[in-house]
Parts: sequence; C-alpha cells; structure tokens
Amino acid sequence: MKNNPVPEIEAILQDVTARLKDFRKEKCCLIPILQMIQHRHAHLPHETIKLVADHLGIAPCEVYGVATFYNQFRFHPPGKHPIKVCLGTACHVRGGSIILENFERKLRIKDGETTPDKEFSIERVACVGCCALAPVTVLDDQVHGHMAPSKVEGLILGFEIEKQKQEREKAKDDF
Ligand code: FES
Repeated sequence: MKNNPVPEIEAILQDVTARLKDFRKEKCCLIPILQMIQHRHAHLPHETIKLVADHLGIAPCEVYGVATFYNQFRFHPPGKHPIKVCLGTACHVRGGSIILENFERKLRIKDGETTPDKEFSIERVACVGCCALAPVTVLDDQVHGHMAPSKVEGLILGFEIEKQKQEREKAKDDF
C-alpha cells in the first residue's frame, strides 16, 4: 500500500502547485521558481522537485543540478537554532573548515542538514562581515568570533543544559 504524504508536505505541494501557475513554462523561470519555494518554505523539499520539473517539461535531475549548484538553496528545513559557519577567505584561512567539521561531528549531521529533533541545522556561509573576529560562527543570529573546537563544544553544551532545565521545569509544572 502506498504511504500517504505527511500533511505538512501535502500543504507545501498544494501551495507550490498553486504558485507555479504564476510562472511561465520556460527554463529561464527555473531559478525564480526555486527561489519562490525556498522563500515560502525555507527549503526545497525533495517532493517539490518533480512538480517543478513537470511544470517546465524538464527532467528532475536537471532541477537538482541547478539547485545543488547554488549555495542559496537547501533541501532540509532549517533547525530551531540555525548555525552558520563562515568560510569566507579570512575565516577559511583561520580554520573555519575545522570549526565546520567540529559542528558536523558534534551534531552528527553534515553541512546543509538538520538534526532529527529539528533543533540545529548547519550551513556554510560566505563572509558575514566580521573578518577581524575570524573564524566566525553565527548561531541564532548572534555572532561568535575567534571560534575554536572547545567553543563549539561549549555552545552546544549550553543549549543541552538549557533544554534539560526547561524539561525539568515543565515536568514540575505538569506535576
Ligand atoms: S570571512 Fe568570515 S567574517 Fe569575513
């Protein structure tokens, strides 16, 4: 038996189908369409790729090819706490990729992915404008400069402690 799509995806597919009517069925509309989906849904769900391909009369792999070429597109919804690791030149030179690896290892996800509990997502970004603080990470829109592996540990640990505290308080309230 075929699985029903989860309601959230169903709603996204309905929305995208309705919006596609505003776009001509021409290949030059591909990027604006992908931008529209990402703008409305914060990512490009895989299920929408076929819709776009059908609308434009091209193969889904062609849509994927374009979407994966540009850094602006992501295939996973951002987490509650988006982590942006800067890999601009200054940050790269000062070990930005080591910081990225540390976040990936600590959270067990890769760049562009979201943790299964939807708490964190990791994204590599270009210069965020604070090169003097390189390497830089932006977490929840807060800039963290002079990043080091120990700071990665500390940031994640801080969230874990806060989450446990909230859970304890909630359990007390429910009691
Ligand atoms: S290169 Fe990272 S802040 Fe400029």
